[in-house]
Amino acid sequence: MKMLRKLLSAILFVLLCICVFGGFTVPADPGEGLVVVYCNDGRILYLSADAAKDYSDSTDWSEDFLEVTCDIWNTAGDNRLIFKSKLPFYKAEGWSDDLRAVTVKMKNTDGKEKDVFKDKTEEYQQKGWTFVSAAKPAAKATGSFTDTTPSVALTFDDGPNPSTTNRLLTILERENVKATFFMLGNRAQSGADCIRRMQALGMELGSHTYDHTQLTKLGEAALADQIEKTNAAIMNAAGEAPTLMRPPYGSYNAAVKAAAGVPIVLWSLDSLDWKSRNADAVYQKVLAEVRDGSVILFHDIYDTSVDATERLIPALKDRGYEMVTVSELARRKGKTLSPGEVFSQG
Ligand code: NI
Repeated sequence: MKMLRKLLSAILFVLLCICVFGGFTVPADPGEGLVVVYCNDGRILYLSADAAKDYSDSTDWSEDFLEVTCDIWNTAGDNRLIFKSKLPFYKAEGWSDDLRAVTVKMKNTDGKEKDVFKDKTEEYQQKGWTFVSAAKPAAKATGSFTDTTPSVALTFDDGPNPSTTNRLLTILERENVKATFFMLGNRAQSGADCIRRMQALGMELGSHTYDHTQLTKLGEAALADQIEKTNAAIMNAAGEAPTLMRPPYGSYNAAVKAAAGVPIVLWSLDSLDWKSRNADAVYQKVLAEVRDGSVILFHDIYDTSVDATERLIPALKDRGYEMVTVSELARRKGKTLSPGEVFSQG
């Protein structure tokens, strides 16, 4: 693909030279000390290296042809390399720079999956291919499946910690993203303002026990105490009790399920932020493992986790994911959350 793009770039470059310079060929070497700068509308400038650098830094023009162009496809599967400034015109004609917008996932009887251009699905159906999402209409028939948007839930444990949690909330607010917080009861008083802010921003409030005790090691009374004290502490701060519970270490048994009183939420993707304490490692791990329905585990008590989230949100949006609360994720995936039931992915 890269080779093909390079080849296409070279051909386009020659064609452009012919257009721009009225059919006169231009020497491939623009001259002593000069470099070629590409504008995003297809114009070419010859500039001194210093001026070229200024232009590249201060505009979206570039010395790299590939930076001002992009690949686009239509639903018939045609592919073109165009200047980015032309993208809106092409989009109006049904082209897209995102393959997912013009294809659908299909599979054959061996279970092999393929992204098929939308105009070609009938052809594939005749050959026995079916839509990968074919199971979804059945779920829809039950009335619970209402949304096919790729969705994930960002979840944050062990807070609130005013400095890091507030930083995170500012990012979530700016990005208009909803998340779920599993909080410790013994941090609810000092973090009361954070909790009220979460509530005002439409975040989901969950319990993570009073003091991060492993619940499976507790007797009945101590178990009930952990749950009730946390509910009361969050209720005091927000005026509403947590609607979900995540047991520390993901550790639960029948007694925990019976005592929870709310759905139990685990996770399907551990960012390992508590272990790496490295924003880049967290970012890479999540992007490598994320999929539709992921419940992603972070801890809002580390600055590195907040840094990673700040980078992840636009990257996930780019990949087509919407970030929603756990309850909303479950609703979208047609799963019912009920007290004591365990949910770990959509
Ligand atoms: Ni925890």
